[in-house]
Amino acid sequence: MSTNIFWQESPIGKTERQKLLNQKGCVVWITGLSGSGKSTLACSLSRELYTRGKLSYILDGDNLRHGLNKDLGFKAEDRVENIRRVGEVAKLFADAGLICIASLISPYRKDRDACKPFTFRLFSLKNILFDVYMNMSLQLCEARDPKGLYKLARAGKIKGFTGIDDPYESPLNCEIELKEKEGECPSPVAMAEEVIAYLEAKG
Ligand code: PPS
Repeated sequence: MSTNIFWQESPIGKTERQKLLNQKGCVVWITGLSGSGKSTLACSLSRELYTRGKLSYILDGDNLRHGLNKDLGFKAEDRVENIRRVGEVAKLFADAGLICIASLISPYRKDRDACKPFTFRLFSLKNILFDVYMNMSLQLCEARDPKGLYKLARAGKIKGFTGIDDPYESPLNCEIELKEKEGECPSPVAMAEEVIAYLEAKG
């Protein structure tokens, strides 16, 4: 724990940054099982926002585990710390004025919820974190198995794999829920447009 620390105010305020970038910073937090299409949505959303002149940045769970979170594994306490760190980084991005797209399994409800009111209060960034739940069945995710990880988990070669032998707690009150239709994931562009429509409605 740090002691004797002080808060240093920035010379440029949030409103000034927003004006410069012509956008409001926020966090779109995409949660769901491995293979549910989180990264696909994140990429599509980032591209669609770009074509609309809006700057976003993706914080991808897998990518962050190559650097910032390389010391973390997949034990419960590591996942908790993973989400806490990414929540903090996302907050900074949003404060800087970017549309931060966080794409992580983030399996525990408590940790996702913790990113919302408390961490963001400090920055007066209330109501700027939107949870997007990729509500795709385990059956669909496992059938897709884009990285072959479910196969390894079923064979006992990966222990503690989300959805197989580690829990995923679905959100109770997320802002956006994207569901499979007739056993298929909606198209990336359709999903991105739904999220953008929501963001536009929220200003
Ligand atoms: S978490 O649960 O939010 O901390 O996970 P995250 O940081 O998003 O990382 C998930 C990616 O790690 C790979 N992977 C695993 N996922 C789940 N459980 C286990 N045991 C595991 N081992 C490796 C996998 O590529 C995940 O990426 P996605 O994009 O979700 O498939």
